[in-house]
Amino acid sequence: MSSNAHVPVLLGPVLRGLKIKPDGCYVDGTFGRGGHSREILKQLNANGRLIGIDRDPQAIASAARTLTDDPRVELIRGVCAQLGTFIRDRELVGKVDGLLLDLGVSSPQLDEADRGFSFLRDGPLDMRMDPDSGVSASEWLASVDEKELKHVLSKFGEERHAARIARAVVAARENAPIVRTSELAAIVVSAVPAPYGKHRPVKHPATKTFQAIRIAVNDELAQLESVLAQSIDVLRQGGRLCVISFHSLEDRIVKRFMRDASREPEPYRGMPSVPDEFRPKLKVIGKAITAKADEIAANRRARSARLRIAERL
Ligand SMILES: C[S@@+](CC[C@H](N)C(=O)[O-])C[C@H]1O[C@@H](n2cnc3c(N)ncnc32)[C@H](O)[C@@H]1O
Repeated sequence: MSSNAHVPVLLGPVLRGLKIKPDGCYVDGTFGRGGHSREILKQLNANGRLIGIDRDPQAIASAARTLTDDPRVELIRGVCAQLGTFIRDRELVGKVDGLLLDLGVSSPQLDEADRGFSFLRDGPLDMRMDPDSGVSASEWLASVDEKELKHVLSKFGEERHAARIARAVVAARENAPIVRTSELAAIVVSAVPAPYGKHRPVKHPATKTFQAIRIAVNDELAQLESVLAQSIDVLRQGGRLCVISFHSLEDRIVKRFMRDASREPEPYRGMPSVPDEFRPKLKVIGKAITAKADEIAANRRARSARLRIAERL
């Protein structure tokens, strides 16, 4: 597979979940390499519309090479937390038939050593989805204090050895700045207790550390909370929200958001008459959907994917 490829996960369930109308307006808030978007487009007629958003300039550039001739498509380089503004600017508030969020990083981001996301490939320790904004992971690690680092590792990475790793990072950076992915990976390996090496564990010991720092550097959870909150006004009645998450922190946010938006707030629950603004805004459609064994066998990224679907009321 080329380093530019990304196999879309849970494609069938996403397309069914969006309940695509041929002349509908769909927003892919995490366009990536457009795997889901291209399949959505196949189901749209000439009056359909697709807006793809991605904060990664490489994602937009790669799609621009193949999709610019399609008058139904518009690509926006930006964060999905700006969804409301993008949609207002296009006078589409309350007119969007489906919003897809396929969270996290794409295969090309992970595969390219220069992006600095992977502990398996040596490269500059960057990890920004948009390399033109914010600080790199290396810069972030140079100044974060030990307590904050421990908090990030244990909260965003659910890393058991957060304290040891934070201590090791702070000790290492006193000698020299940590600027390469391989350096950070080696610090983590030396900080956590064996058996890594003796009995090779399923996951590399730096997996959770890299995940946690990536989430912090890209402010991923705040982005998610923000775009979810904005999705309500953007969607038309009957419009669908489909969110694929890849770890429990994200999934918890999505699950809670959909649950809370699908019932009245506490003081109004069970009351015979509820003011309009406090009525449920969403209906949850089914339970979380996970990939089947054959998809996981063909695409390892699918193993931790969870799709949740809700409908605007
Ligand atoms: C898992 S990939 C999406 C793959 C896509 N569904 C496909 O099939 O090609 C996630 C993409 O979302 C982008 N992304 C992640 N968080 C974002 C955010 N807050 N705003 C905009 N794009 C984001 C990443 O840059 C990445 O390209």
